[in-house]
Amino acid sequence: MNLRNRSLISITDYSKEEILHILDLAEGFEKDQRQQILNKYVIASLFFEPSTRTRLSFESAVQYLGGSIVGFASADTSSVKKGETLKDTILTVSNYSDLIVMRNPLDGSARYASEVSPVPIINAGDGANQHPTQCLLDLYSIRKTQGTLENIDIVMVGDLKYGRTVHSLVQALSLFGASFHFVSPESLKMPSSVKTWIKNAKLEYYQYTDLSEAIPKADILYMTRVQGERFPDPLEYEKVKNAYILENSMLDNARENMKVLHPLPRVNEIKEDVDDNPKAYYFRQAKNGVYVRQALIAAILGLK
Ligand code: CP
Repeated sequence: MNLRNRSLISITDYSKEEILHILDLAEGFEKDQRQQILNKYVIASLFFEPSTRTRLSFESAVQYLGGSIVGFASADTSSVKKGETLKDTILTVSNYSDLIVMRNPLDGSARYASEVSPVPIINAGDGANQHPTQCLLDLYSIRKTQGTLENIDIVMVGDLKYGRTVHSLVQALSLFGASFHFVSPESLKMPSSVKTWIKNAKLEYYQYTDLSEAIPKADILYMTRVQGERFPDPLEYEKVKNAYILENSMLDNARENMKVLHPLPRVNEIKEDVDDNPKAYYFRQAKNGVYVRQALIAAILGLK
């Protein structure tokens, strides 16, 4: 398995075997998180869009491994504010680092950055397109809680149109024979390109508007936030922002093995009374992000 110097832009850049290799490496980092393998390395973290988990878990991953991290948390504090192009930013920062982690609001920007960059790029989210490292930590969390990635029933809820994490996760789980259940308002349905992906994999998907109907079908209940920042019309956001709110009592009919995942941040789509339910796994899911990102960095730098 050789992921050395390979950018990760879309989860489809990796084969099933390569995905499983990263998850196996991540298990090793969960057992021993403070391996000093990045002592001579500098990672750049360029966040043109807000983030808590992705940015800080990458920083944490690098620092636990003894590496250094440089970068910015907002385009406002970089020379982009003065009009510098993405190409010039990437060419400059590649002089200062061995690997670049980038989040950018424009779909396709990460792919473009990888085409101009002399160092590998990890896409930390590009617009509504892809969030492959979130996908890897979601897969890690699913395997950890279900004991397998094969043939699971996943119910995805909320903003399936603009939510990039669900797009990446459908593509990845299609490699493992999942059944997909999509719960969304009419205006936020899963894009047809993603549904075509499922059909091409000869798998099934089912669409619902009623969350209660779908919950008993889930091994994984994957809640998502309605992405207000991506709506062209704020009035349209107002109409759907509270479409689905999960409450503890709604989990009474859930399967024994079922876990609730959410990429976070949540706004109000999961009530706080769910947090103490043993089925709630979303904060533990966020913790898994550190191990998975350690594994990814180590693999791309050729250290594991
Ligand atoms: N899940 C996720 O991408 O969270 P942040 O936006 O806080 O990084």
